[in-house]
This record gives sequence, structure tokens and C-alpha cells, in this order.
Amino acid sequence: MAVRSGFTSKFGFVAAAAGSAVGLGNIWKFPFEVGENGGAAFVLIYLAFCFLLCFPVMVTEIAIGRKTQLNPVGAYKALGFKKWSLLGLQGIISGVLILSFYNVVAGWAFGYFLEMVSGNFAIGSQFGEFINDIFRVGLYGLIFMGATAFIVSKGVSGGIEKAAKILMPTLIVIMLLLVLYSFTLPNALKGVEFYLLPDFSKISFPVVYSALGQAFFSLSLGMGALITYGSYVGKNDNIISSAVLITLADVGIAFIAGLMMFPLVFSQGLSTDGGPGLIFVTLPGVFETLGPTLGIVIGSLFFLLLSFAALTSTVSLLEVPVAYIVDEHGIRRNNAVWLVAAVIFIVGIPSLLSNGYSDLFTNFITYIGADSPTSFMSLVEHVANDSFLPLGGCLISFFAAYIWKKENLVAEVSKGNPNFKNSIVGKYIDFAISYLCPIVLGILFILTVLSRFFGINIIG
Ligand code: PFF
Repeated sequence: MAVRSGFTSKFGFVAAAAGSAVGLGNIWKFPFEVGENGGAAFVLIYLAFCFLLCFPVMVTEIAIGRKTQLNPVGAYKALGFKKWSLLGLQGIISGVLILSFYNVVAGWAFGYFLEMVSGNFAIGSQFGEFINDIFRVGLYGLIFMGATAFIVSKGVSGGIEKAAKILMPTLIVIMLLLVLYSFTLPNALKGVEFYLLPDFSKISFPVVYSALGQAFFSLSLGMGALITYGSYVGKNDNIISSAVLITLADVGIAFIAGLMMFPLVFSQGLSTDGGPGLIFVTLPGVFETLGPTLGIVIGSLFFLLLSFAALTSTVSLLEVPVAYIVDEHGIRRNNAVWLVAAVIFIVGIPSLLSNGYSDLFTNFITYIGADSPTSFMSLVEHVANDSFLPLGGCLISFFAAYIWKKENLVAEVSKGNPNFKNSIVGKYIDFAISYLCPIVLGILFILTVLSRFFGINIIG
């Protein structure tokens, strides 16, 4: 129970949950999703999903976690609904899938830190070769998974919390400085326009489901991570204000990352749809323009802090299956941690190979009706982020509203927030988990699966 004993204060919980939320999803994935999905229109839809649909799901997850003090599978059982523990299991599978590819990208970020330290700014243009040097990036991934497992096994989350309090603000300061710098570059304004002036003709159904998947992924929702972390929240803490802080921190950092990236992309004349390579290709060249010394300092700090942000997320991703195995199967924590980490690393190997190294995994599957094949890593992302997480959010809200019953949710959230029920937020959450989330998320899930995997586009 090492990690569980770690969160001593409300701030501790918020810091840890925000640490889970803020990660590669904000700084690596958000900008390239914006770039691939037409810019500002995507940003608007993403923001709407975060606040209108994800926020109520976040409150629900934290409340279930605090009520039951258990992992996602155990939580549904403890509330008396054994069959619903299948939903917890779906969340655990999502966590395993997400960590398997997330760790690969975390390995890239860590590798870039080492490259920046040695002043190798040319790595930006060699990104393709870098990610296909699979023994090297595989080793970085292994180191990353090892560090994650070490932290989860030792339960040194108290230490990470403390470090996060210094490192996260530092990352934000560096990004803000880069935003200012990027604004001075030629063509910067074109980037800002792309990012902030919506062109609604760019909206298609894939843009909508990508924004939804990104919202859930970025906020660490829909798989029970916040059920697991919610079990660490004090009975008198205000769940709503914690959830507001976590959401604002997460969305705010993603927003800054976009504001930093697009002026840089346009000033370098790069394409906005650079995909997963976007930050890795764009940033080294920018650091180079800062001059050798400053470039090395800022470049290495940036990728070091990015790796750290990824680490607070991988820790939460690993914690979910570990808490499940420890609580439900009685395996010793230390053994569970290393076993699960090893399995997930192995599950991630095809993702490691899917960026050109292995033809099989690079062109793994061609969806029905699609004209080009999808890599193994993208398939895992599509299944986990864009399908499982929103489905999880749909079912969690349905569960809270109709199975566990709203009165119980309200009673739990009211602890530490006695006026919750009659507040505007309380009324909105009631409406959202009863109708908006189950219905909208359910419909979007079905349409997403039909569109993405079967090429059947009912809308857009
Ligand atoms: N929210 C993390 C990020 O944006 O990088 C990724 C993540 C962490 C997703 C934990 C899900 C999760 F449970």
C-alpha cells in the first residue's frame, strides 16, 4: 500500500492527480492532434469535451475511489455490484495498453534529453532514424519502465510529489519562455491563427472523435486511474475544487503547449500534420537557434522535464493494474509491480517496432474502407484512447446515475462540500451523469467504432 500512504494532504492528492493528467498527452500528443485535425476547430471541440463531459466523469471517478478505497475492480464489488467489476477490468486493460505505447514515447523523450545534453541539435532531422534504432530506444524504454516500477514499488510518491511541486512549474516557465520566443519568429502569427482562429469547415466526424479521445486520455479518465487515486483523498476534502484544479492545470498546460508549437512549426516552414514526430522534429532546431550554450541548457531542461512529466503519468498508469493485482489477488506489492511492468514492457515491443523497423507492425492493419494501413502503435492508441476511454466514461456515469444511484454519489461528493447538491455545479453534474454523459458518450462511442474500424460514416 505504499503509494496509498503517500498522499497526506489535499494538495498531495491534487498534485498527484495533476501529475497523472499532465504528461506526454499535453505536450507531445495534443499539439500533433491539433495539427492533424485542422487546428483551432479541434481545440474548441476538445475544450468543450473536457469541461462538459469529462469533468463530471472525473468527479464521479474520484467519488467512487474515495467511497470504496479500492482499485477499479474492487470498487464496483465493494459497492455491491459484482458484475460491474467487468468495467473495472476494462479500465485495467486500457491502462495496460496505454502504458505499453506511452512508455515507448517516454523513452524517446528521455533519449532526446541525452541528445540535447550532448548538443546534438541535428537529431530533429534524424528523428526517423532515431526511433528506428530500436536497441537504443528500446533500452531507453526499459530504463523508463524500470524507473516507473521502482517508484511504484517503493511507494516514494511522496518524493515525486515534492519534486513535482518544483519541476512542473519549471516546465511551465520554460514553455512560456518558448511561447514568447516563438512569437518573435517570422510567420509566428500564421501559427497562432491556425491554433486559435477556428475554420469550421475543417470539422468532420474523425476530428470530433479524436478530440474526445484526446480529452479522456489527457485527463487520465475512463479507465479508473482516478478511482485508484481517489482512494487517497481525505474524507473532508472538497472533490469538486480538486477536480477543478486538476482539469484547469491539465487543459492549461496543453493550451500552452499548442501556443508554443504552432508559431515554431510555421516559422520553420514545417507541415502541421507531422504526427507523432511533431515536437521531436520541430524543437531541436529551435533550441539550436538559441546558440550553443543556451540551446543545450534549455533543450536538455525541456526534455528532462518532459520525461519527468511522463514519469508522473507512467507511475499512475502502472499503479492501476498493480493495485488491482495486490488487492484482488493477494500478490505481494513488490512482486506485482515488477511482474506487471515486465509484461507491459513486452506488450509494448510491437509498438516499439511499428515506426518503420518492422514492416509487419508498421503496416499492421488496414481498417475496412481505409486506403492506407495503420501501425500497431496507432491501433493500440485508437482502441484504448479513442474507444475504451470514452466507453469507460459512458459506463461509469451510467453506473453512478442508475446503478449505484445518484443520491449516493451526491452524498459522497457532499462530504467536504455540504452545499454541493444545490449548487450550480451540483445540478449540472446531476444532469450530466444522468443524461449527457451516458447518451452522448454512448452514441459517440458507437459512431467512432463504426467509422474508425468499419469505414461506416453515418455523419461527417
Ligand atoms: N494523462 C496522461 C497524459 O496526458 O500524458 C496519460 C494518462 C495517464 C492516461 C494516466 C491515462 C492514465 F490513467
